Amino acid sequence: MRSSFSAVLLAALIFPTISFAQSGVSRVQEARSAQFKALGASFKAVNEMLRRDKVSQRDLMPRVRDVRARARALPGWFPKGSGLGSGGETKAKPEIWTNAAGFRTAAQSFAVEATRLETLVRQGNMSDVADQVKIVGRTCATCHATFRIKQ
Ligand code: HEC
Repeated sequence: MRSSFSAVLLAALIFPTISFAQSGVSRVQEARSAQFKALGASFKAVNEMLRRDKVSQRDLMPRVRDVRARARALPGWFPKGSGLGSGGETKAKPEIWTNAAGFRTAAQSFAVEATRLETLVRQGNMSDVADQVKIVGRTCATCHATFRIKQ
């Protein structure tokens, strides 16, 4: 009697914690997904603008600034325990945490190249900008190849 009472009490104590923890993980994953979608939208807009005949620095600037800001913030979107197998929807591979140095390097090279892109747009040489956009695109692809589950 006493032990089943404690089991109930224990369950009451534990289950809310688990579900809170899981909804916390889902919130982290949803926020991360929203960040990546916004990043993807800005980067796509940059690519589309560059395909036009005339592209202005003024149009490009807010988009490349957005890409650079999100690139710097990216490592903070991956708290421990928010990857595959933590519940919820995610394509974040465990390697993000087991190979943390590799992930940091991938994120850093993205941030460095995105910062350079912003500098080049400010300088206004559009052929350099077009080359740099390709370089930034490769940093996205490199990280996805190692750290994201294939679609
Ligand atoms: C350092 C690693 C890294 C870099 C750099 C990176 N990504 Fe990702 N990206 C990820 C991971 C990991 C996921 C999967 C996240 C998840 O599912 O929780 C992802 C997911 C995405 C998604 C899917 C979002 C969704 O939920 O639908 C898009 C879109 C995306 N990235 C675009 C980009 C673009 C565009 C760039 C470059 C401009 C980029 N990423 C750079 C690691 C990276």
